[in-house]
Amino acid sequence: MQIDLFRPSVPPLSAYYSYLELIESNQIYSNFGPIHHKFKKRLADYFNIGEENIELFSSGTMALVAALIALQTINKDEVRPYCLLPSWTFVATVQSVIAAGLTPIFVDVEEQSMQLTKNMIEQVSNEILLKTSVVLVVSPFGAPLILEGYDLLCQTYGFEVLCDCAAGFESAKSFNFHTVISLHATKIFGIGEGGLLISINKKLIEYAKAYSNFGFLNSRKSITRGINGKFSEIQAAIGLAALDLWGSNKKDYYQKAAYYLEAAFNLPFQFQEGWGRDWVSSTCVIRFDDESQKKSVQKDWANNKIQTRDWWNQGCHLEPAFCHYEFINIRNNTNILAKTTLGIPFYKDISQDSINHIFK
Ligand SMILES: Cc1ncc(COP(=O)(O)O)c(C=O)c1O
Repeated sequence: MQIDLFRPSVPPLSAYYSYLELIESNQIYSNFGPIHHKFKKRLADYFNIGEENIELFSSGTMALVAALIALQTINKDEVRPYCLLPSWTFVATVQSVIAAGLTPIFVDVEEQSMQLTKNMIEQVSNEILLKTSVVLVVSPFGAPLILEGYDLLCQTYGFEVLCDCAAGFESAKSFNFHTVISLHATKIFGIGEGGLLISINKKLIEYAKAYSNFGFLNSRKSITRGINGKFSEIQAAIGLAALDLWGSNKKDYYQKAAYYLEAAFNLPFQFQEGWGRDWVSSTCVIRFDDESQKKSVQKDWANNKIQTRDWWNQGCHLEPAFCHYEFINIRNNTNILAKTTLGIPFYKDISQDSINHIFK
C-alpha cells in the first residue's frame, strides 16, 4: 500500500456548481465582482472583523507582496531597507520580501515553538533593528503565533509586524498585527490558489488592494506601484463552497489528528505543541530527538512506500537563491530543526488502515 504525503480538501465541483452558474448569469469574472464580495463578507463574519479589514488576492504570496509594498507606501520608510524573517519558512516568504524590494535578513527561531519570537528579535543588533521596516513572523505549519512582547518592540524600534500565517486558517484568531493566510490547495482551507490579508489598518488594506489592481485607488489612475494580483470570481465561487463545507471538514481534520495522537502514543517523536488538540492544519510535522533517528525511520517509511517530506528543506538561508543574505544564527535552532523534523502523510480522508500502517 502506497501512502501519499498529501491530498487536497478542495470542494468537489458539485459543491460550487451553483456559484459558477451565478458567475455566468452575472457575466462578471473578476475585478472585485459580486461573488468576490459575498465571499469576502462571509470571511469577515467568520473572522469577526469588518469587511474593510480584509482583502483577497490571487495567492498567499501575492497577499504578502501587496502587504509589504503597501506598508512601504504608507510609511515611506526609505531609510529602513531590511525585513527580518525566519529562515525556517517556505521559500515564498522570502521571495515576497525580495519582490517587494526589501532586503531579507534571516533570524534563527526558538527551538520548541519554531517561531521568531520577541526573544530572538532582542538578540539582533540595534543597528539592524533601526533599519528594519518589517518583521515578518511565520506560523510554522499552521501553529498559533506567539506574539507577546511585539507591541513594545514595535514602539521601541519603529518597525511593523506582518504575520505569515499561510497554513493558519484554522488557528489564526486574533489580528492585532497584519496577517496573511493562504488558500492554496495544500492548505486546510484550500480552494486551489488564493490568499487573504487581514489588518486593523484600513489604509493598508486599501493600498494592498490597489497594488493588486495596477495601482488604481478609487479611480482608473495608477497612483501607486501595482500589478494584476486580483482574486477572480471563480476562486471566490470555490471559496464560498469551501466555507459551506468548512464545519464538517474541520471536524474531519480534528478527528484524524486525534487518531494520530492515539496511534503514535509513546513513539519516539513529538508532534508540534497543541497540534490536533488546540489547533490543526493540513500538514503533520513531527520531531525526532536526533538526526540519525529521523533518518532511520524515514528510510523505513520509504521502504514501506510511505511518503515523507522535509517541507522547508534545510532552511531558507541555505537555498541557492538566498544564501548570500545575512543569517543571524543565534542558537543553531534552524539547522537543528531542519535535521530533526519531518512532514508525514496527513489529510482529512486518510484511512484508519493507513494511519495504523504509518505508526506500526
Ligand atoms: C509559510 C508560507 N508562506 C507563504 C506561502 C505562500 O502561499 P501561496 O502558495 O498561497 O502563495 C506558503 C505556501 O505554502 C507558506 O507555506
